[in-house]
Amino acid sequence: MSKIFITRLIPDFGLNLVRESFPSLDIWFDELPPSREQLIERARGVDGLLCLLTDKIDDKVMDAIGPQLKVISSMSVGVDHIDIAAATARGIPVGNTPGVLTDATADQAFALMLSAARRIVEGERFLKAGKWVTWQPNMLLGADFSGSTLGIVGFGRIGQAIAKRAQGFDMRVLYHSPNAKSAYGAQPVDLDTLLRESDFVSINVPLTSQTKHLVNAEFLAKMKPNAVLVNTARGGVLDQNALYNALKSNKIFAAALDVTDPEPLPLDCPLLELENCIIVPHLGSASKKTRDMMSLLAAQNLIAGLNGERLTNCVNSEVYK
Ligand code: DGY
Repeated sequence: MSKIFITRLIPDFGLNLVRESFPSLDIWFDELPPSREQLIERARGVDGLLCLLTDKIDDKVMDAIGPQLKVISSMSVGVDHIDIAAATARGIPVGNTPGVLTDATADQAFALMLSAARRIVEGERFLKAGKWVTWQPNMLLGADFSGSTLGIVGFGRIGQAIAKRAQGFDMRVLYHSPNAKSAYGAQPVDLDTLLRESDFVSINVPLTSQTKHLVNAEFLAKMKPNAVLVNTARGGVLDQNALYNALKSNKIFAAALDVTDPEPLPLDCPLLELENCIIVPHLGSASKKTRDMMSLLAAQNLIAGLNGERLTNCVNSEVYK
């Protein structure tokens, strides 16, 4: 019987499917993820690993698990926590969960963009602090959506779903994404044009060695002073010190971050002092239906890998060549 380790309690949708075929699976039940040592100890000798984006699965971890490991299935679309090259070198397919979180993440990008542009969080703080004395013509003025330009950096599934939503807000949409075809009336442009012309900039690229700190001081300096930056991709794509300086000196109007580096964000992070920065704890895919579907896809990938079948969603399909 195959041995399985699941690194956290996942929704029943996926868990029950795995349990039907592999009742003796091992689960890490704590609220916090296993430490590296704990993960290695529990995963040593398993045939299948179902992990989350909080688990770093690198070369050494794969070595420690052992040569019998047949599949790594992550309940996430992003796989920057897994050393894909190391898995491929071992012939281990790595599964992820694309598609099912597209709408939830695009909704979150819009919720954050609206909140930052219309100063929703700041307004609520203002009210709760007893500062609302009367309606005033100049109180907490924000940015308009209608007629503005949205620039999407990374035009994959989520980027396109954001463009689709932008049509309903009468926004002009630009995108920068090598090789991506246009959709929803969005216009491909080079990055400098996007930054120069956009009132809203949405980051939707995966974290790789090429995109690490893509949003740096130089990137931010090219944005408009009225611009709002939204990141629902990965915290590592953004240089947080550079963002702090840009927001503090009003080089850009506001930012809204669903993701940070590190996660969780330490409470002494200077970004938390700023009124023009909204930060939420990586909630892009946090809807019940979406998490159910993510767990289901992760379970299906795990089971396929254990049965020696091709994973439905495999990020390193070279292993099948
Ligand atoms: C993912 O699946 O990579 C997302 O970041 C989860 O919200």
